[in-house]
Amino acid sequence: MSEKTIFSAIQPTNTPHLGNYLGALKNWVLMQNDYNCIYSVADLHAVTIRQVPAKFRAQIRETYAILIAIGIDIKKTTLFVQSHNPHHAELSWLLSCYTQFGELSRMTQFKDKSEKHSENINAGLFTYPVLQAADILLYQADLVPIGADQKQHLELSRDIAVRFNNAHSPTFTLPEPHIPQNSARIMSLSSPDKKMSKSDENPNASVSLLDERDVIIKKFKRAVTDSSSEIVYNENAPEKAGINNLISIYTAVTGKSISECEKEFSGKGYGDFKLGVGEAVADAFADIRGEYERLTADKEYLEACMREGAEKALKCSVKTLRKVYKKIGLV
Ligand code: TYM
Repeated sequence: MSEKTIFSAIQPTNTPHLGNYLGALKNWVLMQNDYNCIYSVADLHAVTIRQVPAKFRAQIRETYAILIAIGIDIKKTTLFVQSHNPHHAELSWLLSCYTQFGELSRMTQFKDKSEKHSENINAGLFTYPVLQAADILLYQADLVPIGADQKQHLELSRDIAVRFNNAHSPTFTLPEPHIPQNSARIMSLSSPDKKMSKSDENPNASVSLLDERDVIIKKFKRAVTDSSSEIVYNENAPEKAGINNLISIYTAVTGKSISECEKEFSGKGYGDFKLGVGEAVADAFADIRGEYERLTADKEYLEACMREGAEKALKCSVKTLRKVYKKIGLV
């Protein structure tokens, strides 16, 4: 077991999907065996978009239960709900005083989200990456398993840490991103030029971790591809985005290489390939739904897990927060 600390989080906005799983969650599970892992349901981040309280409450519990259902082991790993540890919001304020307006203005996610939610461009949406930096830096994380879309936020977290360390003395560990090679950016099944996203309104665009086997296979059968028929990966051909995405999904789920996948389906058509990918994903997700249902039937157990997770998280983050207060000169 390495001494290294891993931190990552997921927003409880809708059910996690295949992109979340292949971009991040699969690595969360794998890394638990080798590192000190701390994972969080980032509910405070989700408030940047208006939430319906009753639905939001249910989604926070759902996301927490899904993380256990995919294999996060709460005995080995700290798994908690972000708002159960007030240190995140506290450190976020302090770090916002070490973050430049210009830096936050350059965040592509802020630009995208403010376009999408033009009726509610709130200050939280703008300072969101500072809260994310606080999440990571509170636990002195060495590695952060994420998909490619979070890389810019991670780089900002490092910049903030360097600025604080230089202004005072070494306080924060500089975190490194841990991004998978072939599944860093899983695309929508219906518009393969767009990232698979929890907020996509088209139900065929993404596969949820709780979808039933036949639903998963149906979604893959409907996946948008191009008019040719050869199953070959070609990164430089934009019209091949659909088939490239399916190859990335297949290789990430099965552990096979691109050339193994091409060989396996050589001479076969897109129809056979789509079915093959759908079945591979359905196999990988086969146990999640049952395990999720078992967990959610026992509310008390889930609440006990959340309480225990929050206690473990607090114990760890208080050390960093105290250090920061002292270095800044707070009495
Ligand atoms: P979120 O909730 O959007 O996504 C959770 C994780 O899934 C990855 N991901 C993807 N990977 C590949 N293909 C996709 N289509 C895809 N969509 C999402 C994301 O990169 C992420 O790793 N801001 C974060 C949550 C967060 C966080 C943190 C992450 C809050 N604090 C601290 C790391 C460290 C977010 O919105 O992720």
